[in-house]
Amino acid sequence: MKILITGGAGFIGSNFIHYWIKNHKDDEIVNIDALTYAGNLANLKDLESQENYKFIKVNISQKQEVEEVISSEKPDAIVHFAAESHVDRSILGPEQFIQTNVIGTFNLLESARQNSNIRFHHVSTDEVFGSLGPDDDAFDEETPYDPRSPYSASKASSDHLVRSYFHTFGLPITISNCSNNYGPYMFPEKLMPLFITNLIEEKKIPLYGDGLNIRDWLWVEDHCQAIDLILQKGKIGETYCVGGDTEKNNKEITYKILELMGKGEEMIEFVADRKGHDKRYAINFSKLKNELGWEPQVNFKEGMKIMIDWYQKNQDWWKTIKSGEYMKYYKKNYENRE
Ligand code: NAD
Ligand code: TYD
Repeated sequence: MKILITGGAGFIGSNFIHYWIKNHKDDEIVNIDALTYAGNLANLKDLESQENYKFIKVNISQKQEVEEVISSEKPDAIVHFAAESHVDRSILGPEQFIQTNVIGTFNLLESARQNSNIRFHHVSTDEVFGSLGPDDDAFDEETPYDPRSPYSASKASSDHLVRSYFHTFGLPITISNCSNNYGPYMFPEKLMPLFITNLIEEKKIPLYGDGLNIRDWLWVEDHCQAIDLILQKGKIGETYCVGGDTEKNNKEITYKILELMGKGEEMIEFVADRKGHDKRYAINFSKLKNELGWEPQVNFKEGMKIMIDWYQKNQDWWKTIKSGEYMKYYKKNYENRE
């Protein structure tokens, strides 16, 4: 099988490529990525010389570029990760989210249907369902969409487009809506890697608002395995919710990181809250469990230890990122919220 991955130089995409090459040795991977601030070929350095792996620089919001790569590579399947993915960035500048997440997905769908209906898996987020109250049932495949940030609205829009190509054109699609991932190669502006790397650098860790917002956390390789199952055995046209069964508020995450890294709570800095900050996400993944037998394998404490260890051992990787352009964003983000 030849699989075209979009956004393979990002956090989940690069983990997915490593996962796929390890578990499907005879398959061919074509990775297309625009290499935005979040795309980093260093994530895939060990695969550069591998014959069944190829990288092509493509911006999915450019229709011509997408059409050229899909018609010349003729993949058997497309797994679509490429997106602008950070909520705080979508508050500072929503336009790029529309270009990549909406227009980019549309361009891929058009090329997929015009090149003999290529199998298409769309990687999406639980954030499209909105924000839960403390006693609400977890999100599942029947939950109505209620996105509340420009990021989640752009992902919701892309989900609707993907589904419409199934109903209208018979494109063989599946969609997964997953909760918060964590693991290696996670860009150090998201909660966990930001806090881990700040603590390694003896810097304070900025907790938004009261720190009581809840997310459900899933080890990234467990997400990759879920996508593998859905791609190979999922029912065409269907959506699957993917979650970690690990609801934690941000304070709990923070204290766990402090404990595992031997630091004290004086390192916490409570800062102004994110605008429109979603209170709680939770996922009911029983459809995926019952139909395809998937369950998360890595428990949270084990995953956190592996992750902290990875960031301690790979300081060159994140120190390069946490300089220059990144710091300009970081500063702007905090000025904007206060
Ligand atoms: P990321 O920001 O780390 O990586 C995104 C990748 O897409 C980068 O390599 C970037 O260069 C590339 N990209 C961005 N714009 C592009 C464009 N116009 N053309 C081509 N490539 C472009 O994101 P991530 O955290 O790895 O998320 C991957 C996907 O998974 C996204 O679709 C996201 O919505 C979804 N998702 C993420 C999470 C999470 O916790 N990170 C959870 C659920 C779903
Ligand atoms: P994030 O990693 O941005 O993921 P998402 O908002 O997509 O779930 O944030 C996770 C949670 O952590 C979210 O409730 C916001 C909070 N947060 C902080 O408290 N401080 C930070 O510096 C960041 C980046 C996030």
